[in-house]
Amino acid sequence: MDLTDSSQTDWWRRGVVYQIYPRSFADSNGDGLGDLAGIEAHLDHLQDGTAGSLGIDAIWLSPIYPSPDFDMGYDVADYVDVDPRYGTIEGFERLVAACHARGLRVILDLVLNHSSSRHAWFTASRAGRDGPYADWYLWRDSPGRTLTGKRRLPNNWRSFFGGPAWTWEPAREQFYLHTFLPEQPDLNWRHPPVRAALLDVVRTWRDRGVDGFRLDVFNTYFKDAQLRSNPRRVGGRGAWSWQRHVNDRNQPELAGALADLRRLVDEHPGGMTVGELFDGKLQDAAGYVAPHHLIFDFTLIGLPWTAAAFGGAIAARDAAFRPDRWPANVLSNHDQPRHAGRYDGPSGDARAKVAATLLATLRGTPFLYYGEELAQRNLVVPNAVAIDPPARRASFLFPWWNRDQARGPMAWRPGPGGGFTTGDPWLPLSPDAATRNVETESTDPGSVLSWYRRVIWLRRATPQLQVGDQSIVDTGDRDVLAYVRRTEGAAAVVALNFADRPATIRLPSGVGAAPGWALALSTQGRDPGTPLPAELTLDSNEALIAIGS
Ligand code: NOJ
Repeated sequence: MDLTDSSQTDWWRRGVVYQIYPRSFADSNGDGLGDLAGIEAHLDHLQDGTAGSLGIDAIWLSPIYPSPDFDMGYDVADYVDVDPRYGTIEGFERLVAACHARGLRVILDLVLNHSSSRHAWFTASRAGRDGPYADWYLWRDSPGRTLTGKRRLPNNWRSFFGGPAWTWEPAREQFYLHTFLPEQPDLNWRHPPVRAALLDVVRTWRDRGVDGFRLDVFNTYFKDAQLRSNPRRVGGRGAWSWQRHVNDRNQPELAGALADLRRLVDEHPGGMTVGELFDGKLQDAAGYVAPHHLIFDFTLIGLPWTAAAFGGAIAARDAAFRPDRWPANVLSNHDQPRHAGRYDGPSGDARAKVAATLLATLRGTPFLYYGEELAQRNLVVPNAVAIDPPARRASFLFPWWNRDQARGPMAWRPGPGGGFTTGDPWLPLSPDAATRNVETESTDPGSVLSWYRRVIWLRRATPQLQVGDQSIVDTGDRDVLAYVRRTEGAAAVVALNFADRPATIRLPSGVGAAPGWALALSTQGRDPGTPLPAELTLDSNEALIAIGS
């Protein structure tokens, strides 16, 4: 497939993106860690051109760069190389070529707010106040001593990973800023050489064939120029929430930097970015969205399992994104509890299928997280044995959910190592991996995996599900969320029963010459093509999609 063909350039809107956490996807050399060759060996699962594969359009790789792993790769020691544990630049280029050959795009994770403290830039910067790298990070003097003789901090900012956002560097006799761990110093985006170097990183990967980027915590790149303290706030859980974060992110200067970055991405056709909005509001997200530059606003990720919660959140976002800003939809990622577990109910995997239907049919680009197509649940990893660094610092002032639990190995087949590794996996496989794996679920037409394949391939074949407008419809039952997706002359209706009981609903009429609906897919195995009556009863936790006919 020619990926530069202009008819292919709105893949970022039509397509489905699949997040791979490289460490946990597939291990090709038995060291217990996933790697690039492992990913390449499993591309058939993602896209082989047939409905026997998931049918996705792009993979997003969580960081693959050399890293001491203080934050599992989100502390980058070299932005333009590949960590030897994952492979080599040549191996990466091979992977990109293999993806492109099957019409899959490749998105990299760019962590540009901070580097690793082991990055050569920081090593040079922390060595002294002179020298070419002296201003590459955010250094400040201490404003004096407290009554007990401790050095005062430059301001009241907190680290999102617990404790103050400042660490003392004896060599410079200054503090440096870190929004996350002390091993993740924040880069100084106001310093022109830093900006130029980071844009060079983008250029390098674009030249190596990368199609897009996920921008880690992009709205923290710029801080208040004078680093003024944040105003205090009452309430909330943990010290982070006891201030209003108005000075440590969302600064006006960000707009210019984003414009430069996007211009660079746009130099070749078909590029895209998706920015991770850090701890922000829907209105902030809407302000940053631009064509083929998406924003994760996480509207859906924290919701309770009710039709009212989802309906309300979708309506609020539709309003904020009016008239035509394009959303990114996500239910799980490497930072949050997996949604199959969050939504666990009395009827096994039924809710996971409803959730998959929502993700694949809601207006916006779906982002899947590896393993969700199996309805993989969280691992249970107590904080005491956590690998996730902030989990090891958790306390009353710093409540934290151990993210290891959402990062367990992918299960490919039954047996020891689950097809993930022939060695010792870095985290254990899920206890149910013997049955909840790709090979076993592939043989079961009623499995969550089979449903993901069907629903994504239906989306691929149905333009109104990809790009149509969206209107939520009143079904007459508060537990059923339904919406119509409409393009000129075509429509589809989606009905999702969130309840563990049957629900009788009314459907709106279709479009113009096609006022009725013909069933396309139902989790209950109703016959495709059957005309739907205006009033019908959905089974408990049933999801169905019908096409205007
Ligand atoms: C957001 C990433 O998703 C998370 O995993 C990481 O710890 C922080 N940014 C810091 O880079």
